[in-house]
Amino acid sequence: MKNTFLKCVNCDATYEVTDPRYTCECGGLLDVSRDLSKIDGAFLKKLWDGRWGAKSGAEASGVWRYKELILDLPNEEIVTRQEGNTRLYPAGKAATYAGLNNFHLKHEGENPTGSFKDRGMTCGATAAKMFKAKSVACASTGNTSASMASYAAVEGLKPIIFIPEGKIAYGKLAQALAYGGKTLQIQGNFDDAMELVQDVCKELNIYLLNSINPFRIEGQKAIGFEILQQLDWQVPDWIIIPGGNLGNNTALTKGMQELYELGIINKIPRVAVIQAEGANPLYTMWKNQSEYKPVLDPDTIATAIKIGNPVSWTKSLRGLKWANGVVEQVSEQEIMDAKAMVDAAGIGAEPASCCSVAGAKKLVDKGIIDKDAFVVGILTGNILKDPDAVIGYHQNTLQAQNIVGTYANKPIKIECNIDAVKNALK
Ligand code: F0G
Repeated sequence: MKNTFLKCVNCDATYEVTDPRYTCECGGLLDVSRDLSKIDGAFLKKLWDGRWGAKSGAEASGVWRYKELILDLPNEEIVTRQEGNTRLYPAGKAATYAGLNNFHLKHEGENPTGSFKDRGMTCGATAAKMFKAKSVACASTGNTSASMASYAAVEGLKPIIFIPEGKIAYGKLAQALAYGGKTLQIQGNFDDAMELVQDVCKELNIYLLNSINPFRIEGQKAIGFEILQQLDWQVPDWIIIPGGNLGNNTALTKGMQELYELGIINKIPRVAVIQAEGANPLYTMWKNQSEYKPVLDPDTIATAIKIGNPVSWTKSLRGLKWANGVVEQVSEQEIMDAKAMVDAAGIGAEPASCCSVAGAKKLVDKGIIDKDAFVVGILTGNILKDPDAVIGYHQNTLQAQNIVGTYANKPIKIECNIDAVKNALK
């Protein structure tokens, strides 16, 4: 890993990449940085295109295909489940709903554990192996824990998970338990769990695998790389992405900036980060041009992004400025109606994912995104992660959360005879 080092986003201090730390002495977050002047962009693009469709090994991964800009390690040192390689769909009904003529959805819910987290986790687990860690830990709203538990199982590490009690979707909790994660349900929300896990990791010498870990961000850059490669390196006008702990949009813009500096792309896609109204610290700061202020009691049906104090907000902001980005917020009803459209398009995704489509619609309605713009929305998690939200919407039982089943497709109970069927099909 020549030319690769850790660099503080606040004070520019640098550290060896083999230094197992997450933050700078000054408290700032760290980036994995590399000297791009030593890299030939045209050569990389050719190399990556040559790896497309690799049948086995690390190069068959939609993350490690790009390993020169992820972590340039020998293949045998990589912990992978051949993650990535997710589809990029024409958005169908969701495009009509958003009012867009050229809208695609990148479905990160098609990763091995059903969310985009696997892209960051393959890299985080590889770093854990590099540092010879025995135990790994994370705080999670569910998907990070499912992913970490799976990769830990593959590599034989002990996964310790901190989740907010009663606040994560069942599919995710089920995965964490099934993959063998030691699962601690804390009395508190995600932000409390995030603080606790950092103290625990320091005191008990456990390797932390939240997205404060700079290697996680490196892996997640591959979502953007893969979108571009699927488009034969044509650059969309906009990429829309949900925002919770703000690691994923940080990764997206960091990756795009590297490709741009290497001349692999010659246009910068604009980026829109979409938050839920009840968990919107980045949106509030962006809109009011005010100081960062955490949301103390975040709440949303999109439990994946029920986060009031995102760890990566400084990095996120840096990327948004570079990409001439915007931040938008969407209501509970907007999230669930957009989800109904993503689902009815035959694609399907969990609630937080559908912020991308709800946000697209809102930004088109406001005239910020042109209806003819070339737009890619990122769907971050699988529809099966949160069946309760789906059933609640279609049975119209979410009134307590002020959500109505606008596009509900209710199941119909009938007697077991042909006349009852004929009647129901009328
Ligand atoms: N979408 C889904 C499905 C997620 O699980 C998350 C984050 C996000 C969007 C937001 O991404 O945090 O990088 O801004 N889930 C984390 C977890 C926090 O613990 O699984 P972000």
